[in-house]
Amino acid sequence: MRRHASEARPMTESTHKSGAPWRNFYGRLKGKGLRDSQQAYLDEDLKALSPGAVDWEENPDRTPLDLKALFGDKPVWLETGFGGGEHMVHQAATYPDIGIIGCEPYINGVAMLLGKIRKAGCENVAVHPGDVRDLFDVLPPESIDKAFLLYPDPWPKKRHHRRRFVTPEYLEPFHKVLKPGAEFRVATDIPDYVRQTLEEVPRAGFEWLGERADDWRTPWSDWISTRYEQKALREGRTPHYLTFRRI
Ligand SMILES: C[S@@+](CC[C@H](N)C(=O)[O-])C[C@H]1O[C@@H](n2cnc3c(N)ncnc32)[C@H](O)[C@@H]1O
Repeated sequence: MRRHASEARPMTESTHKSGAPWRNFYGRLKGKGLRDSQQAYLDEDLKALSPGAVDWEENPDRTPLDLKALFGDKPVWLETGFGGGEHMVHQAATYPDIGIIGCEPYINGVAMLLGKIRKAGCENVAVHPGDVRDLFDVLPPESIDKAFLLYPDPWPKKRHHRRRFVTPEYLEPFHKVLKPGAEFRVATDIPDYVRQTLEEVPRAGFEWLGERADDWRTPWSDWISTRYEQKALREGRTPHYLTFRRI
């Protein structure tokens, strides 16, 4: 039997009753029905992987998360919009001495990630199945050591550019939760997204580490290609890899 993904997680409009600010989310929350195995991952694993109280209903006072309780003294990394989770699990498995928090509102992607976590057996991961802006509210200031934004939603139409992650609405709270010196990696296949990233991210308090003009062509040494990157390559688009340091 295939259950519909909407059964897995309620929509969060009710958060507004709890005092949450209006935050328009334009992406997909659910796709095709989930396989029974994926529904089982969500039912059985998701709660234990919670980073703590992130949603407004659970945490209306926005008490900061206890990252020490979560990962001890390990450096904490953050991946926004992990999609199917291949990169996040790869990083967690490669670096067992860090803790990584991933967030993704698309519940089918969350289910895919949970399957990969089971297979890899990694224990240094936490998952927020929702919007990164809710996570920014409750991450302690200067708590994140490294962050990944891999193939963020491109929003190609000019009137939609303000929905992109690389806008002050996201970058200001993001900057606050990163440690000074933290690395921030961005991958995108959209030239205009590169333009906006190179304009907006330095303005938000980061320096671009692309010293040579063609640096953006070379993936990081510990890179693993994501589902979205594979699609971009099949469709003839060029990946760009941008590395910043939080000032
Ligand atoms: C184009 S997909 C790329 C997924 C994955 N990183 C990859 O490379 O295959 C962008 C992802 O960002 C997620 N996303 C969009 N807005 C987000 C937000 N506000 N917080 C967290 N994730 C978000 C989307 O749900 C989507 O899965």
